[in-house]
Amino acid sequence: MQPPVLIKNRSSYKRLAEIIDAQGFALIETPREITKIISTIFAVAPTFFNQSPARKMEDGFCNLASGYRGIGTEFSISNQRYDLLESFSYLAVEEPIVRSGLSDSAMILYNLLKKYTSSLERLIDRVISNLARVYGAETKQLDLFSTRYSPTQINYYEPYQYRRRVLVDPHEDGVLLTALVADCPGLEILGLRGECTPIECSCNTTVLMAGELLALLTGYSISPIRHRVRRYSNQKSRLSLVHFANVNIDTPVFPWLVNDQNRNIDIVAKAINNPTRFGLPPLNRQ
Ligand SMILES: [Fe+2]
Repeated sequence: MQPPVLIKNRSSYKRLAEIIDAQGFALIETPREITKIISTIFAVAPTFFNQSPARKMEDGFCNLASGYRGIGTEFSISNQRYDLLESFSYLAVEEPIVRSGLSDSAMILYNLLKKYTSSLERLIDRVISNLARVYGAETKQLDLFSTRYSPTQINYYEPYQYRRRVLVDPHEDGVLLTALVADCPGLEILGLRGECTPIECSCNTTVLMAGELLALLTGYSISPIRHRVRRYSNQKSRLSLVHFANVNIDTPVFPWLVNDQNRNIDIVAKAINNPTRFGLPPLNRQ
């Protein structure tokens, strides 16, 4: 795998889409206004996660994607080996039933995740519409991507506490595109031959990675990016902020390119059920 190159802000969305089409991922400079929101989230999140387990569980919701999840819910390969992280999530479609149930400290984080999600909407929309253009499909479906069904999750790790070499096992995300920032190293992208590429992480770098749904849209012309999180024993804590850009499950989704890899696969059904592969509830239209 070629060493990842940081795409500068002045690059066009067309160029960015071509890079994602070619290698399945891209590293971009985080737009300055978004960096500010990320810095605030990273400053506020430890206060939430450093509360007692009992206090945090009060901000958890059964059968919803939103809110707090402790270690022992989410996994990447098997429910015999959970991801070694805690998380807190925002999902727009669930807001009417979640907002009234949150504590004050959770509400601060929730509102910030909501703000971050809307700040990313234009960027993600442009990337996806330019990717559609690569496949001559830009007019096929204009409302393909929806923030309504796209969760944003802040992950909190305490790597020094564990012995496992890998905190999150290798997996592909079950969405269109993942946008990820982290405050320190750990993320590794796996190549088709299993080779690992460590990604330099900071608030200023956003990693965009193709998920399974983008692969299905393109008949696997774009490969979904396998990735994992490696443990660095000297890290007392690690934060990552992940936005999972998803398809709009309220409308049918048509592939941009049809072949044996995606013929007769219901992409909306995949979008709804993919979270269950990781121990999470299926997406719900509410
Ligand atoms: Fe992931």
